[in-house]
Amino acid sequence: MTVTALIVAAGSGSRMGGELPKQYRRLAGKSVLAHAVDALASHPGIDAVRVVIGEGQKGLAQDALGARSVGDLIVGGAERGLSVRAGIAAIDDDIALIHDAARPFCPPAVIDRLLDALEEYDAATPVMPATDTLTRLGDRATLGERVERQEIFRVQTPQAFRLAALRRAIEDWRGAGPSDETAYLKAMGISVAAIEGHSMLDKLTTPEVFARAEAVMMSRMVGRTGTGFDVHAFAGN
Ligand code: CTP
Ligand code: MG
Repeated sequence: MTVTALIVAAGSGSRMGGELPKQYRRLAGKSVLAHAVDALASHPGIDAVRVVIGEGQKGLAQDALGARSVGDLIVGGAERGLSVRAGIAAIDDDIALIHDAARPFCPPAVIDRLLDALEEYDAATPVMPATDTLTRLGDRATLGERVERQEIFRVQTPQAFRLAALRRAIEDWRGAGPSDETAYLKAMGISVAAIEGHSMLDKLTTPEVFARAEAVMMSRMVGRTGTGFDVHAFAGN
């Protein structure tokens, strides 16, 4: 049984802004993409890592990756879902872990949980519980109905799939591309395991979040404890 991690890095990072797409920016000494690759490549359950990049970004990607071994770079599409599909078309394995380059710090324990879940399920995804009180908005920015917090979870990546099941579900899919690949299986009535995610997997989306991740990584490097992000994420839990 072979496991490939497919990292999608073909986005433009419009919410982040700046000159370079966020996956190519440096964070604590190396590019965001390199962090993402290293976090997955270092897990003993993962046999290979492949990377999907944007058209015309080969030079940027090569600079960001250095000597890391990721096979041929795969060219993605205009939407995340199209980039993932380009990646899937380029690999031939039993299991794929589909992951956003914009989530550079994947704790190994999350990968353990995903691979364990695939013993029983065709797909698995990390989720995080909502921690704030949740509400709909009513008219003119006043509060509307409360939403039960216990019912709401945030979906993260990496997401693990038995590729045969994912390919079948994609063929069966009709309609606009979903925001993640678990939707293909759900549409066929296939159960997707929800495993415990991690705050270190929160996506780098805006400059504020990027700055916070930078501060946490810096504080880790000088041995202080940090804020917000869990600075002990790599201690094995
Ligand atoms: N992605 C991709 N191909 C696309 C769009 C996104 O491979 N056409 C990747 C991004 O590079 C990122 C992941 O999907 O690693 C999650 O997407 P997101 O955080 O939305 O990144 P961007 O689309 O680049 O950012 P934005 O939506 O702010 O433009
Ligand atoms: Mg996007």
